[in-house]
Amino acid sequence: MLEAGGNAVDAAVATAFALAVVYPEAGNLGGGGFAIYVPHDREAKALAIDFRETAPAGLTAEAFLDENGEVVPERSRWTHLGVGVPGSVAGLHKLHALGGGLLPWEDVVEPAIRLAREGFRVDGWLAKRLRDEKLRARLDQGMSRAIFYPDGEPLRGDDLLVQEELARTLERIALEGPAGFYTGPTADAVAVEILSHGGVMTLKDLAGYEPEEREPLRGWFRGKEIITMPPPSSGGIVLLQVLSILDGFPLDQEREATVADRAGRGTPDPVGLSGRAVHWWIEAMRRAYADRAEHMGDPDFYPVPTDELLDPSWIAQRRISIGERANTGVGPMPSDDGDAEDGNTTHLSVLDGEGNAVSLTTTLNAAFGTGIMVPGAGFFLNNELDDFAVQAGAPNLYGLVGGDANAVEPRKRPLSSMTPTVLRDGGNVVTMVVGARGGPRIISAVIEVILRCEVYGQSVEDAVRAPRVHQQWKPSWTRIEAGWDAVLLQDLRNRGQELRELKGGASVQAIRLDEPGGEPMGFSDPRSGGAAAPVGRAMATPAVPEG
Ligand code: DON
Repeated sequence: MLEAGGNAVDAAVATAFALAVVYPEAGNLGGGGFAIYVPHDREAKALAIDFRETAPAGLTAEAFLDENGEVVPERSRWTHLGVGVPGSVAGLHKLHALGGGLLPWEDVVEPAIRLAREGFRVDGWLAKRLRDEKLRARLDQGMSRAIFYPDGEPLRGDDLLVQEELARTLERIALEGPAGFYTGPTADAVAVEILSHGGVMTLKDLAGYEPEEREPLRGWFRGKEIITMPPPSSGGIVLLQVLSILDGFPLDQEREATVADRAGRGTPDPVGLSGRAVHWWIEAMRRAYADRAEHMGDPDFYPVPTDELLDPSWIAQRRISIGERANTGVGPMPSDDGDAEDGNTTHLSVLDGEGNAVSLTTTLNAAFGTGIMVPGAGFFLNNELDDFAVQAGAPNLYGLVGGDANAVEPRKRPLSSMTPTVLRDGGNVVTMVVGARGGPRIISAVIEVILRCEVYGQSVEDAVRAPRVHQQWKPSWTRIEAGWDAVLLQDLRNRGQELRELKGGASVQAIRLDEPGGEPMGFSDPRSGGAAAPVGRAMATPAVPEG
């Protein structure tokens, strides 16, 4: 798209549609997401486009409870009741219109149509997923059987995957815009599928879907302006809280002391991360995620106290409450942090030659969403309504808890962790475009990549590759990816941090200029199969999955 004369908006929208074809795990027409658009001109408006799914008008929290009032988690995860009104098509259209896409709408949808009709070669990641027994139980049935399990066997790497129904759905979108999706044959197919299987989403819900243009959240960290997603994402507030809390800690002194200490021991380490510093990260996350659970939800339904949560006096109070030891005084709500293997989402970052940036995250929630494919339309339905706090304190798929702020209500958007983010130097120049997939681990991953680049001097590639740490208030333990230094981990344990293994860490897609005027470097996280490419140069080889 960039080579065809398009800008970052054209490229982002075309890529999002293409992902709906070649990455059915998470790319979608039947899901939703968020996009941050930052134009190269400071005077022009930055945009936060919210195309999160909404609860159908006929849905109430009782739909997810049994006759004794107990939560039945399956209902919001794997049934037609868990499907939110899809937002992607309307949202991408709004991004293209408001962000000033240069290429005609049909042209940005066209590559996706071609990929669906002519087919593409299945990669190792999709092939692995289709072999997974738990996913197979969901996918090897109904409409998706013929597509993904032809002759009863899962598609294998390098097989050609053709999706003719999906091509026809995309054609209607190309010709008619959102009306070609929210009304007419596609909408009919969605409503019939949902209503004939116990769901409540109607044609009226579909026709009434509206993406929202929201005011991006802004903050500053070490000389960089941060432009990120406001509620109904929790991502922006949690990101800015954590960075603001950390900004008051002596990060540089600690780093310099650590670099000197390691050099003195004969184990030089230019990054200079100490257990003490990571302990600060963890404690800051714990506090921000606690505020997430209590205070964040759809701002159209609940008065999210964004200003108060980011107020310097609150940030200072939080900072002061962090000592040298883990604060294990967390509340009694028991929860499990779920099965991270199930999740899938996809993020893309674009920076064009003029300096316009788009950071866009989109999802069906779990991999392939509900796993329910719409007959006659060829795409999967999301299970985004599981992101609501179905009942106060009942953990969702990711172990996240919440209360009133994120309770189920008709037409409401469930709280999200997707954190599309752009950093700018003091002026016009975008210096970083970043975001991730990985449920609640999105926010901590985006925070850590920013910290590693901005504080610890790491390149974008090293920062993305580095092992992650994740703390989300409940449960109280901290998840640690393989690869951390053993001495640092022992230091954390000595401070009372309970550490457990983190598998399936978030996958980050980032572009960064080490300095304004410098060459942008893009890096796609090897935790999934994406790739980065400068215009006119070869695409980096995507990572392949283990096993
Ligand atoms: O919006 C959210 O926070 C979740 N639905 C995102 C799910 C996700 O990232 C799963 N990915 N691995």
